[in-house]
Amino acid sequence: QEIRVFAPATVANVACGYDVLGFAIDAPGDEVVVRFCDKPGLHITKITGDNGKLPKNPAQNTAGVAALDLLKHLGMTDRGIEMEIHKKMPFGSGLGSSAASAVAGAYAVNKLIGEPLTKKQLLPFAMAGEASADGAWHADNVGPCLLGGIVFIRSNDELDVAQIPAPKNLWAAVVHPDIEILTKVAREILPKEIPLENATQQIGNLGGLLCGLIQEDYGLIARSIHDVIAEPRRQKLIPDFYKAKRAAMGAGALGFSISGAGPSVFALCEGKESARKVVEAISKVFSAVPLGNQAYISKI
Ligand code: HSE
Repeated sequence: QEIRVFAPATVANVACGYDVLGFAIDAPGDEVVVRFCDKPGLHITKITGDNGKLPKNPAQNTAGVAALDLLKHLGMTDRGIEMEIHKKMPFGSGLGSSAASAVAGAYAVNKLIGEPLTKKQLLPFAMAGEASADGAWHADNVGPCLLGGIVFIRSNDELDVAQIPAPKNLWAAVVHPDIEILTKVAREILPKEIPLENATQQIGNLGGLLCGLIQEDYGLIARSIHDVIAEPRRQKLIPDFYKAKRAAMGAGALGFSISGAGPSVFALCEGKESARKVVEAISKVFSAVPLGNQAYISKI
């Protein structure tokens, strides 16, 4: 028996929800294949699409760590399992690459052994996998990757998460400029303390965005997609960020910001046609960045 699973890319933060809000997109995504084998323990037999960067030691990559953590929890570390990892998105892209592998690893192994845990119960194991890569504990990639749609995290420590409905016609345009930003670096440049005024603005926008999503109020969504904390600092790492923002807004986006820790950027749009126009406008700006870009639109 062989289990093949797909785990999608995610847009974390969604502008005003640093570490507490994220959504999944249709593509790209990572694939993990698992099957039983006679040799006890977890063995990673094949990794593709990683440019040789991922170690095959399961304790050293996010899919392996998530799966090992799950097997340990279930007292099944002696069970012989082979795993293949097929990376379909770059590292350091801001698309939740390491989270996708972690989710795929935990989800695939759980399925192979007869689904003892629910999707939601897999969250801590996928989290442990992702944390092994960037050292931080935030579920805004892993949550939506595992559960789908838009996920709000009330507490990362308690892993108290809620799925938020998406308006019927809400689309995302996502563009990955071909540069790499390490999440660790993008987190280190953020201030430890922020002015009360900024905190108030950010809370207002986050509340507004959640209400807008739930009430299908595109105007309220548009007025709420602003990030006064991370974006002003992180945009410096992304050449032409404001040019791309102007292009996206000019093409009719509801809002635009950095996807996760960057360098990918995203826009929310009303309707598929609008998402197409916006993704084109953003892509044009980033063609100035060398080595070709990747662009996606997705229903949220
Ligand atoms: N919330 C995280 C950050 C996402 O912005 O650093 C990165 O994976």
